[in-house]
Amino acid sequence: MAGLTRIAVLLSGRGSNLVALAEACARGEVPAEIALVISNRADAPGLDRARERGIPVAAIPGKGVAREEHERLVADAIEEARAQWVCLAGYMRLLSPAFVARFPQRIVNIHPALLPSFPGLEAQRQAWAHGAKVSGCTVHLVDAGCDSGPIVVQRTVPVLDDDTPETLAARILEQEHIAYPAALRMLLTRAWRLEGRRVIFD
Ligand code: GAR
Repeated sequence: MAGLTRIAVLLSGRGSNLVALAEACARGEVPAEIALVISNRADAPGLDRARERGIPVAAIPGKGVAREEHERLVADAIEEARAQWVCLAGYMRLLSPAFVARFPQRIVNIHPALLPSFPGLEAQRQAWAHGAKVSGCTVHLVDAGCDSGPIVVQRTVPVLDDDTPETLAARILEQEHIAYPAALRMLLTRAWRLEGRRVIFD
């Protein structure tokens, strides 16, 4: 379809954020089409979510492959699919500076905490164990660091006294499914620029 930005989604697991993005695209809320879903795990349930929707998928296993070689295969698949943007949706691998440089300011990630607090793995559990009273999610542009790029959208949730890491994660996930399509829509439909680390929308 003309006028739609082609995006590649990279995931490692369940794929609920992929579904949220795909549904927002289908409703016309995000002027994009998901050209390809790539997983580093051939058994990722997210690949099935993509197949169910008729979205092309590629499993590019990361195990036993040098990072450089794996990233080259992933980047080549993205370019072959003519995807202009890359959305990380539960992609549990750190991207090298070389990969990030291949898609400058065109890689987006969602993280289940209010960055810069609690980067890295099990962010919901980190926030819960720290005793944070508020947590949430962050959609950010990806740079060469770990969960460190410029912030596009954040949404907050309360952390309740009787929360477990799992109940908190579920409350955050609901907000992820709103935040990710909203951020992508903003990036694709509005003029924006970086001022230092700040993403400024006109
Ligand atoms: C989401 O909570 C996402 O924020 C998180 O993985 C989950 C994937 O769920 N990502 C990270 O922790 C990245 N550091 P999903 O597969 O259902 O979208």
